Amino acid sequence: MTTKHDGATRTDNKRLLSWVDDMIKLCQPDRIYWCDGSQEEYDRLCDEMVESGVFIRLNPDKRPNSFLARSHPSDVARVEERTFICSQREEDAGPTNNWMAPREMKKKLVEAFEGCMHGRTMYVIPFSMGPLGSPIAHIGVEITDSPYVVVNQRIMTRMGQAALNALGTFGEFVPCLHSVGAPLQPGEQDETWPCEGNIDNKYIAHFPETREIWSYGSGYGGNALLGKKCLALRIASVMARDEGWLAEHMLILGAESPEGKKSYVCAAFPSACGKTNFAMMIPPKSLSGWKITTIGDDIAWIKPNAKDGKFYAINPESGFFGVAPGTNAESNPNALDSLKENCIFTNCALTDDGDVWWEGLTEEPPEHLIDWKGNDWYPGSGVPAAHPNSRFTAPAEQCPAIDPNWEDPNGVPISAFLFGGRVSRHFPLVFQSFNWEHGVYMAASMGSEATAAAIGQAAMRRDPMAMLPFCGYNMAEYWKHWLHIGRQHVSTPPPIFRVNWFRRDEHGRFIWPGFGENMRVLKWIIDRVVGNAHGVESPLGWVPTYDELNLEGLEFSKEDYYAIVNIDREVARQEANDQEELFTRFGDHLPRVMELEREQLIFRLFHSPRVWDLSSVSHPHD
Ligand code: GTP
Ligand code: SPV
Ligand code: MN
Repeated sequence: MTTKHDGATRTDNKRLLSWVDDMIKLCQPDRIYWCDGSQEEYDRLCDEMVESGVFIRLNPDKRPNSFLARSHPSDVARVEERTFICSQREEDAGPTNNWMAPREMKKKLVEAFEGCMHGRTMYVIPFSMGPLGSPIAHIGVEITDSPYVVVNQRIMTRMGQAALNALGTFGEFVPCLHSVGAPLQPGEQDETWPCEGNIDNKYIAHFPETREIWSYGSGYGGNALLGKKCLALRIASVMARDEGWLAEHMLILGAESPEGKKSYVCAAFPSACGKTNFAMMIPPKSLSGWKITTIGDDIAWIKPNAKDGKFYAINPESGFFGVAPGTNAESNPNALDSLKENCIFTNCALTDDGDVWWEGLTEEPPEHLIDWKGNDWYPGSGVPAAHPNSRFTAPAEQCPAIDPNWEDPNGVPISAFLFGGRVSRHFPLVFQSFNWEHGVYMAASMGSEATAAAIGQAAMRRDPMAMLPFCGYNMAEYWKHWLHIGRQHVSTPPPIFRVNWFRRDEHGRFIWPGFGENMRVLKWIIDRVVGNAHGVESPLGWVPTYDELNLEGLEFSKEDYYAIVNIDREVARQEANDQEELFTRFGDHLPRVMELEREQLIFRLFHSPRVWDLSSVSHPHD
C-alpha cells in the first residue's frame, strides 16, 4: 500500500487535500489516482476495463467507442430501503425518509469503509454539477474504487482538472465517498462487477447538515454516480431550501411554436415514467411546425431571478443515464441518435454482431443474443434479454435535439410546471390547477405505479413531485418551501399542470398513444399559458375541450377522448380521502394549505354546481 499521490500538484485546496488523506487512511487503497478528465484518460480506463472483463467493447463499425457492462444480478437499481437521510433530528428527515442519527451512521460507515479498498485503486473525481464556473453550479469530489464510475462520471458531469481549477484554493465542495465494498485479498481474482452482496450491508447515506455523501456496497446508477441523485437532488434540495431555490426531479424542454415563439417548461415524472421521452420528443405531422429542444432529461435546478421575477432552470448534468428498454426509432428517435457512439450500456443484451439490444428496440427480437446475465438467449426464452432497468450513458451534446442554450449558465426562463405519474385507471390526461397553492397540492398528492428503477417498490405509491426517493429533508417542509417560493420569490408563479399518459382500457391497453403524440397535450398547455385556450372547469382543474386538443391525424374519437379526460366523482373522492393518510403522517409540519386544498376538492366533488359529464356536453360553458 502507498499513500503517495500527486494531489498537491493538482490543487491547493487544503480542505480537499486533507479529506483525501483522511479517506486514504480509512479505505487503505493500493493506489491513488487523481482524474484529469481527459479523453486519453477515459480511453485508457475503458481499455483497462476491456482487459479485465468489466467492459465489452462493442463492434466499432456499429457503435464506435462504446461499451457494454453487466452488473451483478443483485445490483441493478437504486436501493431505497438502504438510502438514509442522517440529519441530527429524525424529524428533519421526515416520515418518508429512512433516518439514522449521524453519529450512529458514521460509526457503521467507518467500520464498513475501513480497509474497503485493499487491492484496489482509489480514484479522486472532481466534478461540477452545472456549467463550469457558473454561479449556480456546485462542485463535488467523488472518491471511488470503481473505474466504471469514473468513466460514467466523465459523461454525466463536467469532470477532471477543469473542475479542480473552478474549485480553487478556498472553494467549497461536497465530499462524496463511494466504494463498491469488495476489498481484494492479495492474489484474489476480482469479479467483473464487484459489490457488496448482502443488501443489509449497503448504505447510501446523506448528511444534510454537513453536506456529505457516503455510499457503500453498490456500483449501479444513482447508488454510485453520486453527483446525480445524492448531490444534485438530496443534498441540493437542502441547499435550495436554505438559499431560496429548487432542486427537482424534472426534465427541461424548449417548445418553439410555428410562429417562432419559444417557451420552456419543466416536468416532473417519477423514475422510468417518460422524462427522457418527453424531453426530446418529435411532434406528430399535424404539429410539425412545432419544434422541441432538450435542456435536460432528469434534474433541474431552478432559481428565481430578482430582475424579471421569473424562474430560471439549468440542467446540472452533462449526459443522459436513460432507461434502454422501450427506446426505439418510433418512441424516441432523438435518444436513439444520441446513442450512435461514445456510450456506455449497462445490463443490455449483446447481439451476435457485437451490438446492443433491448426489449422494444426492434419489433422482432434477434434470433440469438447474450442476455444481461451473460447467458444465451433465444426468442421465447421466457426471460427478458435486457434487464428492465438497463440503461445507457450518453453525452447530452450528442442529442440532435439539444437546445442551443443548454449550457447557458443563467438557465432558461420557465413558463409552466408539469407533474405526471403512472396511473392506469381513472386519472385524466391533463388538467391545469386553479392557482399555485392548488397546483402544489396536486403535485404533492401525486400517485404513481411501480417501475424497475428501484428495487422492492410497492405496486402503487404516493410520489410527491416525483421526489419521494430524492428529497433530502422533511417532505412537508419541502411543500412549504414550494408554497413560499412561488409567492415570495417570483412575480407570478408559472401555472401548474397534471398529466398522465398511462391510462389503460378494459383490455389493459394504453388509451393515449403517448410519446411524440404528447406534443398535442403540450400544445394545449402552452395555449393555456399564452391565453389561446379556454378549457373547461372541472372539480380537479381546467381541462381541454375536445375541440381544443389538436387530434388531427390521430384516430381518436370523441368517445376515446372522454375516456381519458373524464373524472369519476366517486373515484376522485375516494382518492382525495386516501390522501389523508399521507398528510397525517407529517403532523404539525403539514402546511395548512394542503389540507385545505384537499377539503376544497372533496367539497367541489360533492357540490360543484355544474354537471361535470363530458359524455353529454362537450363544452359546459355553452
Ligand atoms: P428516470 O431516468 O428513471 O428518472 O426516468 P425517465 O422518466 O427519464 O424515464 P424514461 O423516459 O426513460 O421512461 C421509460 C419508460 O416510460 C419506458 O417504459 C417507456 O416506454 C415509457 N414511456 C415513456 N413515454 C411514454 C408515453 O408517452 N406513453 C407510454 N405509455 N409510455 C411511455
Ligand atoms: C431514477 O431512478 O430516477 C434515475 C436513475 O434517474 S438512477 O440514476 O439510477 O437513480
Ligand atoms: Mn431520475
